[in-house]
Amino acid sequence: MTILDGKSLSSKIKENVKKDVENLQKNNITPGLAVVLVGSDPASSTYVNMKSRACKEAGIYSIVHEMPETISQENILEIIEMMNKNPNIDGILVQLPLPKQIDATAILEAIDPNKDVDGFHPYNVGRVVAGLDSFIPATPYGVMELLKEYNIDPKGKNVCVVGASDIVGKPMATLMLNANATVDICHIYTDNLKAHTLNADIVCVGVGKVNLITADMVKNDVVIVDIGVSRLENGKLVGDVDFENVKEKCSYITPSPGGVGPMTIAMLLKNTVKSARNRKC
Ligand code: GUN
Repeated sequence: MTILDGKSLSSKIKENVKKDVENLQKNNITPGLAVVLVGSDPASSTYVNMKSRACKEAGIYSIVHEMPETISQENILEIIEMMNKNPNIDGILVQLPLPKQIDATAILEAIDPNKDVDGFHPYNVGRVVAGLDSFIPATPYGVMELLKEYNIDPKGKNVCVVGASDIVGKPMATLMLNANATVDICHIYTDNLKAHTLNADIVCVGVGKVNLITADMVKNDVVIVDIGVSRLENGKLVGDVDFENVKEKCSYITPSPGGVGPMTIAMLLKNTVKSARNRKC
């Protein structure tokens, strides 16, 4: 069993991003990322802090617009419009989820698709589905890069994606399909999850349910990508996979935390530099 070490690969990618930023700065170009954080969800605040810190370390300018839980949709749209027009900002990221009174689709659609470094605007979603150059959502993008690093080619493989969210599951399945895998997408209405996971050469799971994937649900030599993160009552972070037991059957497995999470941040930085190049070079 080999650990898919996202921490180590993400460090390498972040070092390369830093060099790219240094080269852009020789031409007076500094990539800039604006993050919109609504409310005070502790997990969202933690993610945003990690993104800001990573930007700083890579030499990317970043600004966080923090807004109260009760903010109106118009106010968020005003900030996005301002960031769309701001030439120093190459990437705009609205941390999800948004409070219930806000129409998340309307917010995401208001972002200039050329600054949509999360790849959540329908324009970029469509481009990814069509296999065109686009901003690829950072988490599934990170998974594909991690597999590539370990020479795991999904072509012709049975891939089971568990979770069908717009942020993770759907783009994950799309990237796997584009990589010529045969893809099952499972979700809360899936009748017999085990039948799907048992058939898979690669299982990608990201639903936030502790121990959802157990050893009896996977075949020998499976590749496991655990995208889930949950906090136990004792404060410990864990993924969706019963790691200790499942790892015995795997050829490769990501730990969680320390697998896909760090890759997500690295790919966001990469997308921000890509946007700066597209817009300013
Ligand atoms: N919430 C959970 N993951 C993400 C992400 O990758 N981007 C944004 N904007 N919000 C998230």
